[in-house]
Amino acid sequence: MVSYPDLRLRRVREHEPLRRMVRETTLSPSNFIYPMFVTHGQGLRQPIEPMPGCFHFSIDQLVLDVAEAAALGIPAVLLFGLPAEKDPMGTEGYDPEGIIQEAVRAIKKEVPGMMVITDVCMCEYTDHGHCGIIDNGKVDNDATLELLARTAVTQVQAGADMVAPSAMMDGQVKAIRDSLNDHGYEDVPVMGYAAKYASAFYGPFRVAAGSTPQFGDRRSYQMDPANAREAMREIASDIAEGADIVMVKPAMSYMDVIRRARERFDHPLAAYNVSGEYSMVKAAGAQGWIDEKRITLEILTSIRRAGADFILSYHAKEVSQWLRDEE
Ligand code: PBG
Repeated sequence: MVSYPDLRLRRVREHEPLRRMVRETTLSPSNFIYPMFVTHGQGLRQPIEPMPGCFHFSIDQLVLDVAEAAALGIPAVLLFGLPAEKDPMGTEGYDPEGIIQEAVRAIKKEVPGMMVITDVCMCEYTDHGHCGIIDNGKVDNDATLELLARTAVTQVQAGADMVAPSAMMDGQVKAIRDSLNDHGYEDVPVMGYAAKYASAFYGPFRVAAGSTPQFGDRRSYQMDPANAREAMREIASDIAEGADIVMVKPAMSYMDVIRRARERFDHPLAAYNVSGEYSMVKAAGAQGWIDEKRITLEILTSIRRAGADFILSYHAKEVSQWLRDEE
């Protein structure tokens, strides 16, 4: 083996053209899914305080932002809805005229080239804030499945291109796949939030979605942050149930899980760079304590290097703009 002084690893780092040629990981707008929040009303673009740069959009404003994302080359958006009213059964989630269903219709009409992915969960719609319906003080897995399946079908009927179940109920991918098939939607893919941890990094999102559980927490259905082998079982089970794409969430503190999933499975792999990860960067950036742009690019590149094919990130638009400026 060659070693120093013949071996000089710095040779390939001297000039930018060669640095570019030997770069192993790339970042491009096509690697991103842009998550967005949609609310009832007109003309609304309300800043979400703990997530600077993110907004609650009414549908008319949402489509404008989606059009900007499309112009930047971002292929897909992921929608979260704020219902007019929350109730124990989370009924607006599967209402054919619910906020998400209407938002999907509007985007497919105004920005038809944009792929629309919908979150399939109940926590934004339930008054108790849990991801399923409650029976005897507990989240009832099997009773929730039927409602998740109904949610997915109404979203796809409205025009959603892909559904992404995030409730962490056992059997949710199968229930949704079966129901989509029964309704003639065999060709609509399912992206499973396969390995989703019970994470404090969702804090800002819960402020944004008003989805903080009113009692207890999500540890009876989301995963223990201490477990990585169990994540492989979750992913294997989503795949067995028919998931077309699998996800690890959050991303930054779970890069080992992303890497393991990449090595173990050949399915397309997504990673969710969640709200808390975003907010920390924004907060430190606003203080001038970090170089926000470089840190953001470094984090996202690292998530791709760990093995993610694409990244769900609130940074999607700004990063796509930066990448475009550099071209
Ligand atoms: C819920 C859902 C959550 C997120 C995406 N889908 C919140 C939760 O599980 O509490 C979090 C996303 C983020 O923090 O950016 N169905």
